[in-house]
Amino acid sequence: PRTVRLAVIPGDGIGPEVVEQALRALDSAIAGEDVAIERTEFSLGAARYLETGDVLTDADLTSIAGHDAILLGAVGGKPGDPRLAGANIERGLLLRLRFSLDHYVNLRPSVLYPGVASPLADPGEVDFVVVREGTEGPYVGNGGAIRVGTPAEVANEVSVNTAYGVERVVRHAFRVASARDRKKVTFVHKTNVLVFAGSLWKRTVDRIAEEFPEVSVDYLHVDAATIFLVTDPARFDVIVTDNLFGDILTDLAAAISGGIGLAASGNINPDGRYPSMFEPVHGSAPDIAGKGIADPTAAILSVALLLDHLGLPEAAGRVQRAVAADIAERAGAQRSTSEVGDAILGRIGAH
Ligand code: NAD
Ligand code: IPM
Ligand code: MN
Repeated sequence: PRTVRLAVIPGDGIGPEVVEQALRALDSAIAGEDVAIERTEFSLGAARYLETGDVLTDADLTSIAGHDAILLGAVGGKPGDPRLAGANIERGLLLRLRFSLDHYVNLRPSVLYPGVASPLADPGEVDFVVVREGTEGPYVGNGGAIRVGTPAEVANEVSVNTAYGVERVVRHAFRVASARDRKKVTFVHKTNVLVFAGSLWKRTVDRIAEEFPEVSVDYLHVDAATIFLVTDPARFDVIVTDNLFGDILTDLAAAISGGIGLAASGNINPDGRYPSMFEPVHGSAPDIAGKGIADPTAAILSVALLLDHLGLPEAAGRVQRAVAADIAERAGAQRSTSEVGDAILGRIGAH
């Protein structure tokens, strides 16, 4: 059989709790496929930092990069924990992985499954995917501060947008749209104010659009996009946007389509040069960690994205259908993390 080497980073807080259920779903979904998954667990995150002082060593990174794919739970401690003040786990671990492994596509689907309560009275059919740029924008750390702590402090955080980086993510978004039924790309930015980056993005979208005549294109300023995500989310098919806008829009997207407990994501290196990384959109949720009540669905749906990426669409479909069937019946029931895992696992086995 084909062997897939999977790096597993359970992380902090509810990370390990949801990853445990995700791995059970993974094992069950590939039963009967001609594939063996070889797992290596990496102990990384706030807990590891507090123990050893390491966030992500070069050796960790090299070892992770030698795998075929990565499954991550969530990393990060309680916001404001003074013991973590010097660490910056988010930058030093999560972003370092995304940047070093060239995860330039951050794929975040939003589907409102039948039976799921949305905070919107009449959401319509919500089924869109955000293609969030993953390696540039204000995230790169191109900034600095002077006169820190004085009344004259200056703090700069410069958004980096390269022709190369914008083109490759925009082309990927059009490819994704071309493979979907509605074949529609909505480019979201703030071109009226961020004129330099906006102009580069706009010209790139216009040029790439010519390569995909079957795909229709429209544009929204990011502030207006938040209105339409709430008033008319069914209008969206594929949204392409920069790293920071994409971060914000995808929490909103999660909130309108069943909540953060259902939102899955893939940090993809489409070139296949580096392993792609799959993770729930949510964080380590220190407020509910250890209680056994975290919803593992987002992590399990991230496994479906992982299976799709590995070229195992039937296994991915089994996971997706099992989740959809479970969601249709949960109707507000209060269940533990493992009860949700058991219910979904039972359905994967039955399909
Ligand atoms: P969060 O996503 O951890 O939590 C926000 C709220 O959603 C909390 O009330 C939490 O209980 C709830 N929630 C999240 N996931 C849930 C689930 N699966 N089931 C039920 N409820 C869930 O965001 P935060 O509180 O801003 O961040 C906590 C820590 O996680 C911080 O250190 C942050 O930097 C980090 N973080 C990490 C990632 C990641 O690893 N990818 C993503 C976001 C935040
Ligand atoms: C996410 C998170 C991360 C981001 C943080 C923790 C660095 O919010 O995955 O959405 O901003 O990308
Ligand atoms: Mn986020």
